[in-house]
Amino acid sequence: MEDYDSYMPVRPRRLRQNPAIRNLVTEYRVTPQRLILPLFVCEGSQVRREIPSMPGVFQMSLDVLAEEVREIEGLGIGGILLFGIPEKKDEIGSDALSPEGIIARAVRTVKKTTPNLLCVTDVCFCEYTSHGHCGALRKIGGRMDVDNDATLELLQKQVLVQADAGVDMVAPSGMMDGMVGAIREAFDDNGYEHLPIMSYAVKYASAFYGPFRDAADSAPQFGDRRSYQMSPAAVAESALREVELDLGEGADIIMVKPALAYLDIVRLVHDSYPDIPLATYNVSGEYSMVKAAAAAGWIDEKRVVLESLTAMVRAGAGIIITYWAKDVAYSIS
Ligand code: PBG
Repeated sequence: MEDYDSYMPVRPRRLRQNPAIRNLVTEYRVTPQRLILPLFVCEGSQVRREIPSMPGVFQMSLDVLAEEVREIEGLGIGGILLFGIPEKKDEIGSDALSPEGIIARAVRTVKKTTPNLLCVTDVCFCEYTSHGHCGALRKIGGRMDVDNDATLELLQKQVLVQADAGVDMVAPSGMMDGMVGAIREAFDDNGYEHLPIMSYAVKYASAFYGPFRDAADSAPQFGDRRSYQMSPAAVAESALREVELDLGEGADIIMVKPALAYLDIVRLVHDSYPDIPLATYNVSGEYSMVKAAAAAGWIDEKRVVLESLTAMVRAGAGIIITYWAKDVAYSIS
């Protein structure tokens, strides 16, 4: 009391002194309801093939998928994001255009097994094409590149096949100009005006997708994706332009991808469009780095994961797509 130097009316530690008070002032919570779990579906039966670079993530056949979605629904997870891995790939990704293709059958399996679980599909061609690019190719300016407008027509066919199969929402990820508008038009012309679109609006050409390309067997056979995905070093505001375009074309939910290295962009988009639901994708490379360090005993996986997901929520993401969705649900419940 006498010692004036130590008199401090403001002491931040008062709100940190025990779990009860810390819990009271906890503003950002990672809940299973806001998480979406990506799933990789392949042909065969009783297939549960672990991805070497993504321990704990599996390619699974439809029978295994059915068991998986029951478990996921029971955990109260927000939804699943399906990726199809066809047996046969070709130039235009025909498997994705067929009602008997892997993704259409996967959607039907999910909706039959767990009608109330939100079933989202990744809409792109890189898993289905022999060349691994996100659309049909054409010689443009002397070199092979993805033909934007031809791909839009293929995307319209792809989403209608998925809509007929019963999908609840589509997530176009190919970064084609006009993709959201083309999908919206296909839906609205065919009685699917109720189906929402979650657009990978702000998607960077990122080395963090490396392990995913093993998981989905979708590495480009030549070149890279820089003629359609965004440059990490381009003006930050170009993210807003992409968002504006997609919203104008009818996107319902906007996504920024990857997550951790782009939380400034998540914040920028959230602040600029506070009333639009915002998702971020905690991608494969972000997953594999933590798994590897945890396996070596260098970091505490559970704590690092919760800290990272909390950062995404704090940056403004209401929805997080993450391979850890089940782990989070198990550790919280
Ligand atoms: C398909 C797609 C990719 C990812 C999601 N959808 C790969 C890519 O664009 O190369 C990456 C997901 C991840 O890394 O976890 N276009």
